[in-house]
This record gives sequence, C-alpha cells and structure tokens, in this order.
Amino acid sequence: MGTVHEMKHPLITTHLTMLRDQTTPSSMFRPLVRQLTYPLVTEATRDLRTEAITVTTPLTEVEGQRLSDRVAVVPILRAGLGMVEPVLEMLPEAEVWHLGLYRDESTLEPVSYYNKLPEKDPPDVAMVLDPMLATGGSATAAIGELKAWGVQRIKLLCILAAPPGVEAVVNEHGDVDLFVCAIDKHLNQHGYIVPGLGDAGDRIFNTRAL
Ligand code: PRP
Ligand code: URA
Repeated sequence: MGTVHEMKHPLITTHLTMLRDQTTPSSMFRPLVRQLTYPLVTEATRDLRTEAITVTTPLTEVEGQRLSDRVAVVPILRAGLGMVEPVLEMLPEAEVWHLGLYRDESTLEPVSYYNKLPEKDPPDVAMVLDPMLATGGSATAAIGELKAWGVQRIKLLCILAAPPGVEAVVNEHGDVDLFVCAIDKHLNQHGYIVPGLGDAGDRIFNTRAL
C-alpha cells in the first residue's frame, strides 16, 4: 500500500516560501529546487536495500553497507529535469530514463511525446521526478508507462501538490509512495496549483515571457 509523505521541516518551509515568491528569478529558483529535492530523496530512499561490505579505515577494517537495489531516476520533461542533479549527487550509480509529457492547456490531459523505456529488465525501484502534481494526469500517465516496463516499486517525488493530484495518484496507483514538500489548497480554473508557484518549467528554464 502506498503512502503520502508531506515533508514538515522549517528549512523546507523557508525554501518553499522563496520558491513561491514571484520576484525570485530563475537563477535563484533552480538552486532552491535542488535544495528542496535533497530531503525528498533522503526520505524516498529510506527503504532501499543494502548489502554488507568491508572497508579498511586508516585504523582498522570495518563492516559497512552499499546499495544493492538497481535504481532508476525518471524526470518528467521539462520541469522534472530541475530535480535530476541533486538526486544523482546522492545516488551516483542510478540510471536516468526521461519521459516527455506535457499538459494540453485546454483539456488539462497529459500528452506523451517521449518514451524510450526498454521493454525488459526493469530496475528494482523507479523514482519519478516532477516538481508539480496538479490534476495528477502527467504523473499517473508516467507511472503507467513505468508499470508497463514492469517496475514494481515506484516513488513519486514532487515539490508541490494539489489535493486532486494526490487523490488521482492514490486512486489510480495505490501502491506508489508520494513524497512532497507541501500539499496546497486547490487548483484554479486553469489547473494551476493555488497558492502554488506558477509554471515550474518556465521558472526553471526562464521561458516565462515566451
Ligand atoms: C507541468 C508539471 C507537470 C504537470 C502537472 O508540466 O511539470 O508535469 O504540469 O500538471 P498535471 O498534474 O495537471 O498533469 P507542463 O505540462 O507545464 O510541461 P513543462 O514541464 O514542459 O513546462
Ligand atoms: N504545472 C505547473 O507548472 N504549475 C502548476 O501550478 C500546475 C501545473
């Protein structure tokens, strides 16, 4: 059974407040997304399997651990790209598989435009990265694509969510764990999270005026 983890921490709240501020430029927005991703990864990897190894310190031998799960990191283009680097800093051996999905602005339905997932040998664990979970259409479609590959353990890491998106994930993929910095109040009539932070992709890539 999947779980919803809403992170509660004063550093997360303060970073999130700066991220929400419309005067925060892309040059500051990107490092804030990275900083908010670190605690999500720490929490989402809590149940990864490890195996014992022995290393020698300058003083003696000691038994330690190394990860034994094969982990895939799956950013949803474009905005999920902003979360890849901090995940790879913490999981340098992880594979990165991209999924291209955008929301049709009139129907709010996800449109898939890039999927090169292989047909066999799924990883043990996949971590889907997308800062925004609004209606949940994009995330549930991405999770569906990973399940079609055969991935059994899927985690969704988001910066902000709205209640309809959380509900969609729980209802359609009740086995998936969701890790999110904050769950906001609602969606507006255009499907934007309120109070939210605006368009995450545009703010990461500085394409707001286009
Ligand atoms: C944003 C966001 C999610 C999606 C969330 O992407 O990064 O992928 O919207 O909305 P949903 O939960 O209603 O599907 P967008 O479609 O703006 O594409 P972009 O990342 O390329 O800007
Ligand atoms: N996508 C975004 O980037 N922001 C929202 O508020 C909703 C979807």
